[in-house]
Amino acid sequence: MVTVEVDQDLCIGDEICASTVPDIFEMDDMDGLAYVVDGNEELDDESLVEMAREAEQACPVDAITVSE
Ligand code: F3S
Repeated sequence: MVTVEVDQDLCIGDEICASTVPDIFEMDDMDGLAYVVDGNEELDDESLVEMAREAEQACPVDAITVSE
């Protein structure tokens, strides 16, 4: 099982995560920051894990953490 987190204190609303992996990340209309979609905080689907890791790499401010 892999855990996905977004640190809203770091997120600057770049939206790369939500636009490339909308199954895992979504933007909040109120604060303009990214959040993990409800129910996807823990992943065991390998293809989703891979996409989460790519978003982790792509985020310009390292706000995404994907951990075992
Ligand atoms: Fe925020 Fe990084 Fe996504 S800045 S919107 S967590 S790509």
